[in-house]
Amino acid sequence: MSTIIAIANQKGGVGKTTTAVNLASFLAQQQSPSKMPARVLLVDCDPQGHVARSFAIDSNAIEKTIYTVLFGRCDPPDAIREVRANLEILPANRELAIGEIELREVINRERRLKQLLLSLPQYDYIIIDCPPGLNLLTINALAAAQVVLIPVSTWLALTGIGDLAEVLAELVREFNLNVTLYAVQTFFRLGVRESESLRERLKADFGGNLLNSTINLNTTLATASAEGRPIIDYPNTPGYTDYARLAKEVITRVTKENKATRKIRKG
Ligand SMILES: Nc1ncnc2c1ncn2[C@@H]1O[C@H](COP(=O)(O)OP(=O)(O)O)[C@@H](O)[C@H]1O
Ligand SMILES: [Mg+2]
Repeated sequence: MSTIIAIANQKGGVGKTTTAVNLASFLAQQQSPSKMPARVLLVDCDPQGHVARSFAIDSNAIEKTIYTVLFGRCDPPDAIREVRANLEILPANRELAIGEIELREVINRERRLKQLLLSLPQYDYIIIDCPPGLNLLTINALAAAQVVLIPVSTWLALTGIGDLAEVLAELVREFNLNVTLYAVQTFFRLGVRESESLRERLKADFGGNLLNSTINLNTTLATASAEGRPIIDYPNTPGYTDYARLAKEVITRVTKENKATRKIRKG
């Protein structure tokens, strides 16, 4: 069974896509429990289509996307494409904005994505990149996830997380979900008062669910994404080190803790 991780925050520009792309890239280099390389699917739930763009693919030139799959107009394998060894993407483009409106009319509208991902058990990890905002696309991602990872870059990026947590709690109640919320601080600047005070606030709010890994402000991360490459192509940069560390923490902590609670609940 896959471990499904949604990267969410209503604010734009906080590092959601950068985290989704680079976490997925590093996870695809890990071994799965069966000692085979881990197989990773990166799902784009944002009509901006930045996931494809992060791998130098023009999302608006793509015909088969998550939109066509969600509405049964093609099969998942027709839309999923391999971008690196063990790393596949289910891309989105601007058509998904229409999809968000169409979703409002369908049965089981909050769990369309979950249904779809359940039909793809061959992946060890499924990473979902959420759009900014708390619309039905975000809600579908939250309802499909076992882990919700919230990147927080600034104090402003903290506002609204309460609403996200509330919506998540409602979904948990309604659909009896097992999901854990974590935060990761992005655009971190050591020794800068705003970064340090935000860290203290995140520790107070999230406790042990604030990840130890921080993602430092590093312009190579922006350069890499502009060039359509993950940071894994730029070793010896702070961005590489930070995302490698984050992936390790996700594997050793987040995934294990989540599997443990799943076992407790089942048993
Ligand atoms: N740690 C970082 N340091 C510097 N630039 C970053 C960092 N993380 C992301 N960026 C850049 O900031 C912009 C917004 O990041 P992005 O991941 O697209 O945010 P979101 O998906 O939340 O809107 C992008 O241009 C990205 O390349
Ligand atoms: Mg994004």
